[in-house]
Amino acid sequence: MPIIKILPHAEYCPEGAEITAPAGTSICEALLENDIEIEHACEMSCACTTCHVVVRQGYASLGEPDEAEEDLLDRAWGLEPTSRLSCQAILGRDDVTVEIPKYSINHAKENH
Ligand code: FES
Repeated sequence: MPIIKILPHAEYCPEGAEITAPAGTSICEALLENDIEIEHACEMSCACTTCHVVVRQGYASLGEPDEAEEDLLDRAWGLEPTSRLSCQAILGRDDVTVEIPKYSINHAKENH
């Protein structure tokens, strides 16, 4: 099973974390199943951007983003070339390292 390494995030996992999930699982599901309560405002239906993560390693092993995801990502806070919506990023066989951005679009609206 691929390992997902999560870099430290002050709110969700201050120490960072390492979890495993079967190939075919979305990164968002895997995080939630392991008590890393990433936001997922649209319940993983590819209609918000709150589940945004930046993939630091293993990007190519994930299922390709479709157009709807690409369009939404344009609105995500802190977009990077290897950004994904974690509810749409399906694990392949390889390990991945992800970073949960400091803010989501919800935070950004409230505080910035
Ligand atoms: S939870 Fe809304 S796009 Fe992933």
